[in-house]
Amino acid sequence: MEYSCKLGAAEKLKSACLVVGVFQNNRLTPLGGQLDEAIGGQIRQVLKRQDFSADSGQLQMLYEPRDCAAVRILLVGLGDQKEFSARQYGLALVPAFQTLEKSGAADCLVLLPTAAEDDSTYRLVREAVNAAETAVYHFDQCKSEKKPSKRPLRRVDFLVHTRVQLNAGTRAAEHGRAIGIGSRLARDLANLPGNICTPSYLAGQAQALARGRRKLKATVLGEKEMEKLGMGALLSVSRGSRQPAKLIVLEYKGGKPGAKPVALVGKGLTFDAGGISIKPAANMDEMKYDMCGGASVLGALAACVELDLPINVVGIVPSSENLPDGDANKPGDIVTSMSGQTIEILNTDAEGRLILCDALTYTERFEPAAVIDIATLTGACVIALGDQASGLMSTDDGLANELLEAGTASGDRAWRLPLWDEYQRQLDSNFADMANVGGRGAGAVTAACFLARYTKSFTWAHLDIAGTAWLSGKDKGATGRPVPLLSEFLLRRCKASM
Ligand code: BES
Ligand code: MN
Ligand code: ZN
Repeated sequence: MEYSCKLGAAEKLKSACLVVGVFQNNRLTPLGGQLDEAIGGQIRQVLKRQDFSADSGQLQMLYEPRDCAAVRILLVGLGDQKEFSARQYGLALVPAFQTLEKSGAADCLVLLPTAAEDDSTYRLVREAVNAAETAVYHFDQCKSEKKPSKRPLRRVDFLVHTRVQLNAGTRAAEHGRAIGIGSRLARDLANLPGNICTPSYLAGQAQALARGRRKLKATVLGEKEMEKLGMGALLSVSRGSRQPAKLIVLEYKGGKPGAKPVALVGKGLTFDAGGISIKPAANMDEMKYDMCGGASVLGALAACVELDLPINVVGIVPSSENLPDGDANKPGDIVTSMSGQTIEILNTDAEGRLILCDALTYTERFEPAAVIDIATLTGACVIALGDQASGLMSTDDGLANELLEAGTASGDRAWRLPLWDEYQRQLDSNFADMANVGGRGAGAVTAACFLARYTKSFTWAHLDIAGTAWLSGKDKGATGRPVPLLSEFLLRRCKASM
């Protein structure tokens, strides 16, 4: 999708459709009102009929308006003006873009709903771009017959009031487009089934991402190399699978040479059956999404490349399957991680932390400025926060706050859970340095406590995305989260250093 911002008179600009927001009680926006006057009150005439109540997301299409260069006008309900926000705007626009995608309009011009400048313009356009990306996404890679829409929506322009708005809106459109590309990559990878998206496939995708891109380098470590490094925890998980494990390393060098990188470490478990502690059959197919953390790392790096961000970033994705097998981990097995710490595996389904701990130890060699791991780590996090917020746990308040703010600003929110030392006791083992599970209480927290034992040498935060990375039910599929949060975080880090 292409995006841009424009100044001008709406009625004079050629487009397949003008998208005009309307607040409840027939309140037109400033640009909507100007348009209506220029075209002889055709919009107010429709509003007078009262078929259209302007509830959020309600739509009314007008065809061939008179005195207007556009072919259509789509009225979009924005709800109560008092409750309006950028987030509300995005929610209202999703059905509008879906309708356009089906209608045969290949382009549209969206009249921005407020005359406010700078910051709020930026937010509105970012939300609108996000809405467009969400609306047109579909996944048909595995259908024998692809049904592309006849005239897909290809460009979305935004009409703004002033030069200042034009600058802010243009920046937002560029950022939104790049984040959209990253999110789409993450969604596509996650929606692929486990028999296609294996650790080797994921590694190949990382290499493909880096190909021809000067600032991005991909390295893939195989099992032999991981053995040499002593990654006994990671390799114990992949022993139960016929697919060889991979450790994917992506280095993006957009910043000053020598500047410490931000490290993103993503769980890339391409299918989680639970191992010997096997999961119940119902909905087990959804465990193909257990690589969403890794996919979000690839997505965030794709966004960095698109935006040519002036920052150094390392992406590290430990990738494996978790299956039952004669050679798989057994409850009670004790393994030695790369850090030297020993782990008693009481539940083989708590495998994410086993592959992540070795990846985190490996991350030390990059002397990172900050490390963020991203993982579909616990069902407990889904119970705690549902699909609204990712769980955030960190030993560093500064980094935690940066991530919370990036989440709010990008509409891809996180919520902090505690990581007090007192929880560490739940991981005590009679036989090894620690157990890999901490009992029934605070499952999301004890999983993070486990990881905390491997992150002592750097500033670290953990995002549990088990509830946010995909949706179940009739909308089953990957969401691309938390690519927007991560990209926003990196964008803000760049701004702070400029
Ligand atoms: N990948 C799962 C976590 C998960 C569960 C993600 C449900 C999304 C939805 C993870 O590997 C896992 O199985 N965790 C266990 C941990 C438990 C054994 C301590 C869980 O949450 O049940
Ligand atoms: Mn598991
Ligand atoms: Zn898992």
